[in-house]
Amino acid sequence: MRTQVGIVGAGPAGLLLSHLLARAGVDSVVLEARSREYVQQRVRAGVLEHPTVELLREVGLGERLDREGMPHEGVSLRFEGEDHRIDFTDLVGRGITVYGQQEVVKDLIARRLADGGDLRFEVSDVTLDGLADSPVIGFTDADGQRQELRCDVIAGCDGFHGISRGSFAPEVFDREYPYAWLGILAKAAPTQHELAYANHANGFALYSMRSPEVTRLYLQVPPDTDLADWPDNRIWDELGIRLAAEGFTLNEGPVLEKGVTGMRSFVAEPMRHGRLFLAGDAAHIVPPTGAKGMNLAIADVRVLAEALTPYFARGDESGLDAYSDTCLRRVWRAEHFSWWMTSMLHNAPDGDPFTRRLQLSQLHYTVTSRAAATSLAENYTGLPH
Ligand code: FAD
Ligand code: DHB
Repeated sequence: MRTQVGIVGAGPAGLLLSHLLARAGVDSVVLEARSREYVQQRVRAGVLEHPTVELLREVGLGERLDREGMPHEGVSLRFEGEDHRIDFTDLVGRGITVYGQQEVVKDLIARRLADGGDLRFEVSDVTLDGLADSPVIGFTDADGQRQELRCDVIAGCDGFHGISRGSFAPEVFDREYPYAWLGILAKAAPTQHELAYANHANGFALYSMRSPEVTRLYLQVPPDTDLADWPDNRIWDELGIRLAAEGFTLNEGPVLEKGVTGMRSFVAEPMRHGRLFLAGDAAHIVPPTGAKGMNLAIADVRVLAEALTPYFARGDESGLDAYSDTCLRRVWRAEHFSWWMTSMLHNAPDGDPFTRRLQLSQLHYTVTSRAAATSLAENYTGLPH
């Protein structure tokens, strides 16, 4: 079997890359370890930054997003029991859209299949060889048959736990945080239109939503948290305490999904090894506080598709040579922003009072200085691609 670009992983990065390449007349095959149903149901990120929404519209993926996505013109920072709104439209003239990652994935899969794209789910034992000049991906297909996919280029879009990054030895920069997020999806109508990031003495909490009927909520918890210790009533009680503010009520409802996510910052450099190009979580992880993970994955594959198009058209390798540096500039900006939001909003487990005073000072500054609020708004809504 042969294709131009062999793509490992059908997350937002791999699927969008395959779509962008198809539009440019470049063939690809996408290999995914999980089933189609599994990747479509996996609940993860929910915030699309402005450049992400513009790109999805531009490449014909905006129809359901524009119908069902929830445009937001601001966000609030909540601390000391008070809500402070950061008005994105006023500060930077653009906003964000709340639309679940699994909805983006559903739209991409439907579109690739309608366009005759080659997506293979439930593959196993994926191996990468010949990365210097003649790449070959080995895999076992869903019927148990061993296959070989020869390609010109491999895109490693297989997430943080994938195999692509391990096929060379990039330099790694990382940080683990002494807390995690317990996230729930609840069948409860949101009581406010926009997201609230709350800093509270008990720990961080985040108020978000997925639709007019479904709320998405997160609590800072210790990294070794066992979900069994968090029955629904304990979660609601703690959310009530941490999100409390004048005029705010929390609607409770049946919990549809519950999970704990660890938090880390991680960057692998460079994002290229010979004919292998890493994109998305395979190359970098941010803590979720800045809502940047999926957006970065999408920005990477845009750069990669724009580099691969002239390469296949006329052998021009300049975009491929610049790929890693181009992506890493945006990646490190998002790494800094996500680290900064995380440090400002979470409680250090040691409760060091000096750090606490610094956090409150930074929060007050951010909500009272137009310059500081603009910096948050510019990063949160997404710097131009
Ligand atoms: P992924 O979406 O991880 O896709 C990689 C794909 O590769 C997966 O489908 C995987 O099954 C497949 N794969 C892995 N190994 C192999 C293999 N060997 N062979 C074939 N296929 C393979 N970001 C936020 O902004 N907010 C959040 O609330 C948030 N919550 C998250 C919760 C969790 C549990 C996780 C893991 C991530 C979360 N993120 C969040 C981050 C965000 O979801 C990711 O940044 C985004 O999914 C990155 O897209 P991707 O396509 O690079 O990787
Ligand atoms: C959501 C997730 C995030 O990580 C974030 O910063 C904001 C919102 C969400 O799932 O809605």
